[in-house]
Amino acid sequence: MKILLIGSGGREHAILKKLRENKSVEIVYALSGNGGMEGEAVCVPIGAKDIPAMVDFVKDHPVDYAVVAPDDPLALGAVDALNAAGVPCFGPTAAAAQIESSKVFAKNLMKKYGIPTARYEVFTDLDAALAYVETCPIPTVVKADGLALGKGVIIAQSREEARAAVRSMMADKIFGDSGSQVVIEEFLTGPEVSVLSFTDGKTVVPMVSSMDHKRAKDGDEGLNTGGMGTVAPNPYYTPEIAQVCMDTIFLPTIRAMAAEGRPFKGCLYFGLMLTPDGPKVIEYNCRFGDPETQVVLPLLKSDLLTVMQATTNGTLAETAVEWKDGYACCVVLASEGYPTHYDKGFPITLPETKENEAIYIAGAKREDGVLKTNGGRVLGATATAATLQGAIDAAYDLAGRIHFANAYCRKDIGRRALAALEGEK
Ligand code: AMP
Ligand code: GLY
Repeated sequence: MKILLIGSGGREHAILKKLRENKSVEIVYALSGNGGMEGEAVCVPIGAKDIPAMVDFVKDHPVDYAVVAPDDPLALGAVDALNAAGVPCFGPTAAAAQIESSKVFAKNLMKKYGIPTARYEVFTDLDAALAYVETCPIPTVVKADGLALGKGVIIAQSREEARAAVRSMMADKIFGDSGSQVVIEEFLTGPEVSVLSFTDGKTVVPMVSSMDHKRAKDGDEGLNTGGMGTVAPNPYYTPEIAQVCMDTIFLPTIRAMAAEGRPFKGCLYFGLMLTPDGPKVIEYNCRFGDPETQVVLPLLKSDLLTVMQATTNGTLAETAVEWKDGYACCVVLASEGYPTHYDKGFPITLPETKENEAIYIAGAKREDGVLKTNGGRVLGATATAATLQGAIDAAYDLAGRIHFANAYCRKDIGRRALAALEGEK
């Protein structure tokens, strides 16, 4: 089997390693991949948004299957274009990817089909939005409609902050056209849970739950980032809550998308908040999360390629999706200063890994054979163990054996999850 993998981060490296466990996979072309994937994939310098170049590439280099991992190419129709070129794909069409690429679409879908989420209003007019923030409950949450590199959400703690958020998105266009429409919504409270799922448009199979750590600094302080670490499973997500989510959120969403003529195939990511009124949807993503994937896939016992193909073929109901017992923890090693200013170009020294460890490279390139830092989030150090404490200790042990100048990581990945587990006893 020849596979095309679109994307270049740690998530894609985790997908690549898992796909490689299937012995029928002879070659994976990664577009554009990164320096840490070389050896496991053939990295091709075609950007994830350059869909015409992707289509040209598969004409010259036939592949049996494609995995489109990032949000941008999905929103731009990479799956539609590759399907038209005769390549079956893992991932939703552009019409289905709107569940992530338009927050207005997602909120209206949830309202229409009674899926629990924060109460909200949509605005296309600056003055109307400004008038609304004078009366709405504070704190309030202001969201740009479109994709904004995960930065399009502002939690306003005062009316002044809410006004500033609305102006920055709608008048100053800090997120470009993504801010032409904004959603202003109710501020919810409760533990957050990420649940990624496989779906073929009819059947939905949740993966093990996980917990992201989005802020840059310990204690959930500092700026929002792409994610500084993850643990799985998430101890707040009990079997009882999982059943409620299946009945009130997962299945209704899959049925709603089918009823709208946009059946969703691929990985649908449910960003949930466990509020005092029950689980509610904070956001949908139309793809695997990063760095959630780096803890979820190491716990997958079944063959990833087989499960992915079942989502494409509509045979997920007949396909076994099994998980390992135990826990996984991923500690992200970033460049000091991320997510604002940081230096790059420092050589990375990687240790030998044990059976329960994996290093997923994200922001790195290879220069004269030397792997060097090339981004904010440089890599993820993942370890699995029978207990959560064991997984956390092992992930930090692995992180401590990786060296590059200006490395920074949070020291408290998994601490909140551990406290939740302790609380249960
Ligand atoms: P998103 O970019 O949609 O993942 O949102 C970023 C973060 O903002 C989420 O992980 C939540 O922590 C927070 N957030 C988003 N919407 C709400 C809300 N309605 N109430 C409280 N927090 C929210
Ligand atoms: N880690 C959050 C995301 O992938 O959107």
